[in-house]
Amino acid sequence: MTTRTAPLGQPDLAATPGRPFGIYIHVPFCATRCGYCDFNTYTPAELGGANPEGWLAALRTELRLAAEHVGAPLVRTVFVGGGTPSLLGGAGLSAVLEAVRDNFELDADAEVTTEANPESTSPELFATLRDAGYTRISLGMQSLAPHVLAVLNRTHSPGRAPAAAAEARAAGFEHVNLDLIYGTPGESDDDLRRSVEAAVNAGVDHVSGYALIVEDGTALARRVRRGEVAAPDDDVLAHRYELLDGQLTAAGFAWYEVSNWSAPGGECRHNLGYWDGGEWWGAGPGAHGFLDATRWWNIKHPNNYAQALAGDELPIADFEVLGAQDRHTEDVMLRLRLRRGLAMDDLAADERARVPGLVAEGLLDIAGERMVLTDRGRLLADGVVCALLA
Ligand SMILES: C[S@@+](CC[C@H](N)C(=O)[O-])C[C@H]1O[C@@H](n2cnc3c(N)ncnc32)[C@H](O)[C@@H]1O
Ligand code: SF4
Repeated sequence: MTTRTAPLGQPDLAATPGRPFGIYIHVPFCATRCGYCDFNTYTPAELGGANPEGWLAALRTELRLAAEHVGAPLVRTVFVGGGTPSLLGGAGLSAVLEAVRDNFELDADAEVTTEANPESTSPELFATLRDAGYTRISLGMQSLAPHVLAVLNRTHSPGRAPAAAAEARAAGFEHVNLDLIYGTPGESDDDLRRSVEAAVNAGVDHVSGYALIVEDGTALARRVRRGEVAAPDDDVLAHRYELLDGQLTAAGFAWYEVSNWSAPGGECRHNLGYWDGGEWWGAGPGAHGFLDATRWWNIKHPNNYAQALAGDELPIADFEVLGAQDRHTEDVMLRLRLRRGLAMDDLAADERARVPGLVAEGLLDIAGERMVLTDRGRLLADGVVCALLA
């Protein structure tokens, strides 16, 4: 991988005509930090002066500079993530979308998502977001079990996430996602079953299901190290994945990426862009962007991010230009995780020669000219990618 230290603002950041273009906006604020999370987010005590108003002013500048760089691609998707975007409230999130519109042309049919934490939402917030032009809400539910939420340090009551999803539906959101985490220490099969049932009954059209990852440097990692809680067990995680998949499939959802299930038409188009050849600008502290073969990432701390923009400079920390082999590796890694799979033609001859062995092992199916992970292959997706790329 060719990695260079960029003089600020030096990478060539033009959008490629014809490739889908999206904008990711990172909101780096959370009321409290969940013990398992290592995302670039800050509680008020950690901010040292940065605040949502300063962040929004800096974001406006970044979006103006971004538009000057990329040309005028039609924006097909916007994803406001975090952190906790719902802490910005209806007025703040409306201003974020207005800042996008001030600088870019938004497709009439654009998908506009915001993440939200259940405890900072209300029917009024959803109504405001709908009026502002948001089309999709993604809520962090994680679990319905109180003891699981406690281990994860989640602050919402067990029923609040499905209730918030139902409120979003009632406010007119056709597309609503609930994130679930499985494999938390202390979670039982029945806890997961009840969580999935509550998510489905809330009327959502999308569920993301993530195996709990014990990230280095988190409070959860320290608790595991001290022996206070057990690390998630691989066999339990595999069993819970099968349980989640079976229950969602029975409820009319289909997997379209290894960790994502949707009702027909409910796929997240923005995330599909990450996995399947899209380009995007990543705005906000620590956000990553990808255009042509260049990936770059912003300065992480909100104060330093805002300071760079106050000087009318793009707040780029560094970038890398992917060579042909690196791009190929990434394409295989990402596309193979999709239900539509990977085209045979996307593989080199020596890689294609390994496919029959993986089919014989029950890890890949061949569907026409494409290869798709089997149910067993989904449990071992990373291993299948390694075996293909050898
Ligand atoms: C970073 S959060 C942002 C959204 C929002 N703040 C929330 O917590 O709901 C997005 C999702 O990532 C998932 N996530 C974060 N850290 C994780 C970890 N260590 N293991 C598994 N999933 C994780 C959670 O499901 C979470 O809902
Ligand atoms: S999981 Fe969500 S709410 Fe919890 S600290 Fe991470 S970003 Fe914030």
